[in-house]
Amino acid sequence: MKTKYIAAAIGAAFALCAQAQDTQIDRKVTDLMKQMTVAEKVGQLHQLSGRQFTGPTSSAYADKLADIRAGKVGSMLNVIGVADTREIQALALQSRLKIPLLFSLDVIHGYKTVFPVPLGEAASWDMDAIELSARIAAKEAAAAGIHWTFAPMVDVARDPRWGRVMEGAGEDTYLGSKIAAARVHGFQGKKLGATDSVMATAKHFAAYGAAIAGRDYNAVDMSEQQLYEVYLPPFKAAADAGAATFMNSFNTLNGVPATGSAFLQRDILKGAWKYKGFVVSDWGSVREMVPHGYAADLSDAAVKAINAGSDMDMEGYAYSQHLEAAVKAGKVKMSVLDDAVRRVLTKKFELGLFDDPYRYSDAAREKAVLGDASHRAAALDVAQKSMVLLKNEGKLLPLSREAKRIAVIGPLADSQRDLEGGWVVQGERAKVVSIVEGIRNHAGKAEISYAQACAPGCASSEGFADAVATASRSDVIVLAVGETWDMSGEAKSRTDITLPGQQEALFNALKATGKPIVVVMLSGRPLVFNTIADKADAIVYAWFPGTEGGNAVANVLFGDYNPSGKLPITFPRSVGQIPLSYAQYNTGRPVVDEKNIVYRSAYIDSVNTPRYAFGHGLSYTDFKYSGLALSSATLAGAQKATLSFDLTNSGKVEGTEIVQMYLRDMVSSVVRPLKELKGFQKVHLKPGETRRVSFTIDRDTLSFFNSQLKWSAEAGEFKLMVGSASDDLRLEGTLRLTQ
Ligand code: BGC
Repeated sequence: MKTKYIAAAIGAAFALCAQAQDTQIDRKVTDLMKQMTVAEKVGQLHQLSGRQFTGPTSSAYADKLADIRAGKVGSMLNVIGVADTREIQALALQSRLKIPLLFSLDVIHGYKTVFPVPLGEAASWDMDAIELSARIAAKEAAAAGIHWTFAPMVDVARDPRWGRVMEGAGEDTYLGSKIAAARVHGFQGKKLGATDSVMATAKHFAAYGAAIAGRDYNAVDMSEQQLYEVYLPPFKAAADAGAATFMNSFNTLNGVPATGSAFLQRDILKGAWKYKGFVVSDWGSVREMVPHGYAADLSDAAVKAINAGSDMDMEGYAYSQHLEAAVKAGKVKMSVLDDAVRRVLTKKFELGLFDDPYRYSDAAREKAVLGDASHRAAALDVAQKSMVLLKNEGKLLPLSREAKRIAVIGPLADSQRDLEGGWVVQGERAKVVSIVEGIRNHAGKAEISYAQACAPGCASSEGFADAVATASRSDVIVLAVGETWDMSGEAKSRTDITLPGQQEALFNALKATGKPIVVVMLSGRPLVFNTIADKADAIVYAWFPGTEGGNAVANVLFGDYNPSGKLPITFPRSVGQIPLSYAQYNTGRPVVDEKNIVYRSAYIDSVNTPRYAFGHGLSYTDFKYSGLALSSATLAGAQKATLSFDLTNSGKVEGTEIVQMYLRDMVSSVVRPLKELKGFQKVHLKPGETRRVSFTIDRDTLSFFNSQLKWSAEAGEFKLMVGSASDDLRLEGTLRLTQ
């Protein structure tokens, strides 16, 4: 009891301290703003990119530097490293009010130490690992002068044609929300302003992931129901986790560019969610409201964006050129300008930049932190956790090292660049461990031969004969294929998501040798590879696994690491099924029997089911689920129920299972999906070990946005399901909400 009081007292003291600090900062901001001209205020909302986009000697770059000196710039992106950030900060300190700049950068999956691409990390379903990855990225970036990262991307994405699925957490709202919070915590650490933390950005607000036909930057048209239910919750989770900033997005949402949307930025974010951070536009997205046909010219775009709540203009030049005049003409109220400036300055104070504008730019720290060997060990750990074993026929994996001849083949087998994936800033390419190098590192007595067969992209089959000859002299083939690093990411939409070039032909040529084949696939999105899915003996989906990728792949192949990753996104059989998610609606005519689909919600040329379902992922051991029990068959008011069951490792090696809990609300005022993920746990078990696993279910678990967009639960029956994947649910129970 006593300790409870002490803890409460300490908590209250901390809250008071934080409040006191807030009011102190508030006062400082007010004092500073009193001294600012309208032009200086506008300057704080103008963000420019560093020299790599203009070239260091161009007159455009010289103009940028002059603007910084004149106090007309609030933030720079793409100025990297202690030396450069110091040099540029010094210019800002020559301005009249000496307001320091914010330095921002896309630190998406690592700074120097490259971690798996975010979609890959999401496959770990491991919040500690994901937080650690962001933590290390933050430490490295913050040691190199960076205050602010444009991550995490929390866009739910259900269309793998969209190249940016690579940057997010996949298709699911629940998993995506957990990951959003973990990444924000990782980047921002315990406290904003610590010199090992950077400000996070929840982007792209909102619904950017639902671009029509998966074409990047395309319009988005969706019901508010979908928006609230599927697309907004990860943003809310990021805001609740304390994300210092938000970035709006390129797309229109129901006809209004997100950058000019007061509904999104004022009503939802700053209104209903009471968000206190600031919103940065996406690159040029203020300006782009002109080609969208929403603003008549750049000046109109500036007025519409700031009035809608877009605080900072990234490389758009709309605010810098037109905002001052717009304020003077009364098109933008001074209070609107002041609110935006206050939000930006508050962050600069919170980061401690007014006390020491160079506090993130310390050459000794940069050297020490960027050389920290523990970061590579973490990258290996996270990469292993992200790998998904899609198939393992006849338990070909793990490979034995005893007197085996292993042929490592393929365009991506010895690539370093492709293991890094996109959005890499300072990765040390030469130190990336390729797949063949990783296999050699871990091969023991096994004999390794290597043939590339074709260059990345696999345009030519000239090298196939040599590869087949190498494969013929082996006992087992490891084939590394997939997309090259630059095929997913921004502006990398594809209509055909099969393996690029002649990689499938290469697979077929190798298959003809009769040797068993393990396929290691690299990609930033789900690919379609039906022949390989049918005929390969084993498939490991490795995403773009980062600096330690080759070692991670090898540890999985040889069984030094038992894979546990699960797909965070559905893998379709064909592009024709897209968009495809496990969270389908039943329709009035569901397919009950695949053999009888007449007038059913089906395709006449394909089954509805995906190639690999959301949540799918195998292990080298087997798990049994049994003994489901519910602490109560009914629930009322604020009561809670516990669902529990036994999980047994029934195989021969230790392993980790990611158990998943789904529910279906059987009858409701707005129809609910057949399955919605509502909980998951990672459980590690020794062979033969059994553990009772439990999930708590309360009113919130059963709630959804009703037709008034109110979060509420409706009385009635709920089906609860637990299992190993969304299409491999082993146990179920029923719970009734009575009131
Ligand atoms: C992307 C953002 C990114 C920004 C700055 C834009 O093109 O959409 O995600 O943060 O560029 O590099």
